[in-house]
Amino acid sequence: MGILEKFEQFEGEGARRYDRAVSRFSFILYWHALRDLKRIGVKGKYLEAGCGPGILAVRVAKELGVEVVAFDISGSMVEIARKRARDAGVSVRFVVGDVERDYFGEFDVVYSTFSLHHWENPEKGLENLWRMVKAGGVLYILDARREGFVGHGLSFYEFKSFFENLENAGKIEVRRRFPLMVSGIAVKEV
Ligand SMILES: C[S@@+](CC[C@H](N)C(=O)[O-])C[C@H]1O[C@@H](n2cnc3c(N)ncnc32)[C@H](O)[C@@H]1O
Repeated sequence: MGILEKFEQFEGEGARRYDRAVSRFSFILYWHALRDLKRIGVKGKYLEAGCGPGILAVRVAKELGVEVVAFDISGSMVEIARKRARDAGVSVRFVVGDVERDYFGEFDVVYSTFSLHHWENPEKGLENLWRMVKAGGVLYILDARREGFVGHGLSFYEFKSFFENLENAGKIEVRRRFPLMVSGIAVKEV
């Protein structure tokens, strides 16, 4: 098993391994996302898709003072995330769910980090998340970016085209982020 594949197993021991690794680098990994979400500055209800061990969801709830629901397809990740929130004394609702199928209601902000390139059909996943964004609300995605033969994830242009295809998207901002990341923000028209 290659080193990257080892960190892309999300059930059982794989989830615990991912949690241990990411806990060490969380400051760097979530730096863009936390800054961007603070800059977007919307209050209210947030939904995180593919939340993994819940490190970002707990920080978003705590640092932005918003209500967060977070889901992941892996039951092991959801268990780790629930424990993290309990230990931190932070209230986040963690549930098991599939980004391509499940509906959790309407939210002011729907966001996701480093998960999209694992979805079977990223375009379908994004469309499903988009329908959970309230009118006037925001979709925010940060993910790994493939550049030529370097990195993994989607290319900048694939990622951008998904954002451009969202129905009723008012403002869209898609940016390359250092190093080998890509972010997208879409605001839903009222
Ligand atoms: C690389 S981890 C990222 C976890 C977390 N967002 C982070 O930034 O550390 C990818 C996560 O996406 C989840 N995932 C993959 N496919 C999914 C799907 N269809 N629906 C929901 N979550 C999914 C995996 O179980 C895994 O926890």
